[in-house]
Amino acid sequence: MTHKQPSLFPEMYQGVATPKPVNVASIPQRSPFRYPGGKTWFVPTFRAWISSIYTKPQVLVEPFAGGGIISLTALFERLVDRVVMVELDEDIAAVWTTVVDGNAKWLAKRILEFDLTKESVIKEISRSDVDVKEKAFQTILKNRTFHGGILAEGSGFLKYGENGKGIRSRWYPGTLARRFNDLAFVAESIEFRQEDGIAVIHEYSKDRNAVFFIDPPYTAGGKKAGKRLYHHCDLDHEKLFAACKTIRGDFLMTYDNAEEVKTMARAHGFQMRLIPMNNTHHATMEELVIGKELSWMDQYPAVHEPKAEYKTKKVPTKRSSGRATARR
Ligand SMILES: C[S@@+](CC[C@H](N)C(=O)[O-])C[C@H]1O[C@@H](n2cnc3c(N)ncnc32)[C@H](O)[C@@H]1O
Repeated sequence: MTHKQPSLFPEMYQGVATPKPVNVASIPQRSPFRYPGGKTWFVPTFRAWISSIYTKPQVLVEPFAGGGIISLTALFERLVDRVVMVELDEDIAAVWTTVVDGNAKWLAKRILEFDLTKESVIKEISRSDVDVKEKAFQTILKNRTFHGGILAEGSGFLKYGENGKGIRSRWYPGTLARRFNDLAFVAESIEFRQEDGIAVIHEYSKDRNAVFFIDPPYTAGGKKAGKRLYHHCDLDHEKLFAACKTIRGDFLMTYDNAEEVKTMARAHGFQMRLIPMNNTHHATMEELVIGKELSWMDQYPAVHEPKAEYKTKKVPTKRSSGRATARR
C-alpha cells in the first residue's frame, strides 16, 4: 500500500502552533452509542489518513469496534467499500448483529414506542429470556441511562444528568431512531464478528487492499483506565503489536500516551505522533497515533526518540599502551 507524496517541506510546519483539539459537535454523529473511549474526535484524522493512501482501500477492518464511529463514517462517506467490525462484548454485539441482520428499522421503531421511566427501564433490562433484537434494545437503553454510557458492571443510573432531567437526560428517541434508520442503508456493507480482534487482524493481514483502524482498550502496563470501562479489557498488547507487524496493507492505531506503549511501538519500528483531544471533563490531553508511515501527519508533533547511547571502543593510546608520547 503506497501513500501519496508527503509534504516536500515538512519544516514549514515547524513553528506553527500544534493543531487544536477537534470540536466533536462539527462531526456527523453516525453511531447510536455514547461510547466510553469513542473516537468521534478522531474522524478528521481518519479521513486525512484514508485520503493519503494512493489507491482507495476496499475494506476497513476495525478489530475493537465498540460504538463503531470510524467504520460507520468510512461507509457513509464512501471512503471504503465495506467494513469488518469486530467486538467481543455481547451487549454491543447484539446491536451490530441486529443491524447487520436487517433489523435496524425494527430497533428504531422499538425506541420510538418506548415510554422511558426509571421503572420501565429496570423492568426492561431485567428480562433475560430475550432474542438478539430485544437484547440490542436493552443495550441501547443501558447505554443511554447508565452513567457515562458504561456497560461494564458497577456503573449506576444517571442521577442528575443534563438539565436535571436525570435518567432521561441522554434519551433522544427521535435522534436514535434516525441513526438506526440511516444504518439500514449501509447494513449490507457491514460484516460483524463477535470474535477476538487480534485473530481477525491475522485473517486479513495479507490482504493489501485492507486497512485497519485499531483502538484497543488502554490497559497496557496495567493501566486501570480501560479496566472499569469495558467487560473485555484484558489484552495481550505485545501480541497486538506483533499482529500489526504482519499487516501488508496499512494500519492506524490509537493508544494512551504511555511509556509501555511507546516502547512496544519503537521495538516494532512504527512511527508515532501526538494528537490533542478533549476528554469528557473538557481537559485537553494527548493521545498517541501509531502507524507505519505518518508523514501525512507532519503538522502534529512527533514522539521524540530517546537519545541513543553510543559505546565507543576504547582505542589504546600510546600513553595507555605504556609507550611514551612525545610532546610536540
Ligand atoms: C477503546 S474501545 C473502542 C472504542 C471505539 N473505537 C469507538 O469509537 O467507540 C475498545 C473496545 O475493544 C473491545 N475489546 C476488548 N478486547 C477485545 C478483543 N480481544 N477483541 C475484540 N474486541 C475487544 C472492548 O469491549 C471495547 O469495546
